[in-house]
Amino acid sequence: MSTTSTDHVRVGIVGGGRIADLNSIGWIEHDRGRIVAVCDVDGETRAQRAAEWDCKGYAELDDLLADPDVDAVDILTPHHLHATQAISAFRAGKHVCLQKPPTLSLTEFDLVAAEATEAGTVFKVYENFLFYPPHVLARKIVDEGGVGDVLSVRVITAGGRMGVGQGWDVAPESNSWRLDPSLCGGGMMTFDHGFHCFQLGRMFVDAPVERVHAFINVIDLGDGLEIDAPALISWQYGGTLPRYGSWELIASLDLDVLSDYYVSDDRVEIRGNSGIIWVNQCTGRLLDEPPVVHYQDGIVRSFHRIETDWATSFRDATFDFIDAILENRPPRLDAAAGRATLAFSLAAQLSAAEHREVTIAEL
Ligand SMILES: NC(=O)c1ccc[n+]([C@@H]2O[C@H](COP(=O)([O-])OP(=O)(O)OC[C@H]3O[C@@H](n4cnc5c(N)ncnc54)[C@H](O)[C@@H]3O)[C@@H](O)[C@H]2O)c1
Repeated sequence: MSTTSTDHVRVGIVGGGRIADLNSIGWIEHDRGRIVAVCDVDGETRAQRAAEWDCKGYAELDDLLADPDVDAVDILTPHHLHATQAISAFRAGKHVCLQKPPTLSLTEFDLVAAEATEAGTVFKVYENFLFYPPHVLARKIVDEGGVGDVLSVRVITAGGRMGVGQGWDVAPESNSWRLDPSLCGGGMMTFDHGFHCFQLGRMFVDAPVERVHAFINVIDLGDGLEIDAPALISWQYGGTLPRYGSWELIASLDLDVLSDYYVSDDRVEIRGNSGIIWVNQCTGRLLDEPPVVHYQDGIVRSFHRIETDWATSFRDATFDFIDAILENRPPRLDAAAGRATLAFSLAAQLSAAEHREVTIAEL
């Protein structure tokens, strides 16, 4: 694995849209990270981001990749572009941080991973829920034996009312490609947002997910627009213990979900043979509850002094990429882990499409 050519990691951000607001934080705050370039096909976005980050602006990815000042790229574009852009970046010898979902298929993913191996640079699949402090704390409690053997992981997503004044301003262009499965790779909720929830499904149990079953409804919003919700997805982990997980996704289109970001919130419940953990918030703030509650042996512990700003998870995920390059170590999620979450996610899409249980092994 190669390291960066300077004592800083100099990044070119590819795609300066909505999420670049959060992905840029780690680059700005890490004392050895630096944004040196942005590439965006949209001239206004490119000029605005180049001014904001005081960096070069490129309309063409190839020109950014030819820039010797760029050590790494952070790819923040619509999903159908991820594979080709990542492959080009590896061929140019760059380290690559690739937003979730990394690719549309496992075939594409394997092509990207092969290029990463050939380049010998760092390949990180970027998934920020893995770094959200309440989730990190829950994993620590699991590691300390706070629930005994994990027997069940339950994730519930509450999608709320969208529109002006509801959470973040999200431009219609930022949603239009998501509503087209050929560009998004699947449903906006179960494939795009889903990658986070499948990652949560894998975060608290070390055994692999083996079998997946999904019910995914489609809501017709009119004007040719559809949302893939509600959904109920369940899975079984491998290993000798019987362990299951589930993800319940509800789009409550008239529900107010308080949020500084997307109008959505995710809760997690982890049950083991001797304890339970509840993680009560993520992107939004649906109820005013302690972010993390733990029960074991008749004692309830509520964790209030914990960072809950969702942006923190982005900062820490980016820090992980920068540190992986500087320390010449694999990032979290590396290619194998990113592939496992993608396979899990694709298994759910296939299960819903074919109305049957899907094994990961058959993909
Ligand atoms: N981790 C998270 O929670 C999270 C949240 C939102 C988005 N994302 C991911 O971030 C990525 C971008 O999402 P977004 O919401 O910012 O989308 P967006 O539509 O707001 O931004 C995408 C940007 O890419 C630019 N672009 C399009 N084609 C390009 C090309 N060929 N070369 C360079 N730039 C190009 C667009 O002009 C736009 O500025 C997606 O992969 C998405 O899944 C992750």
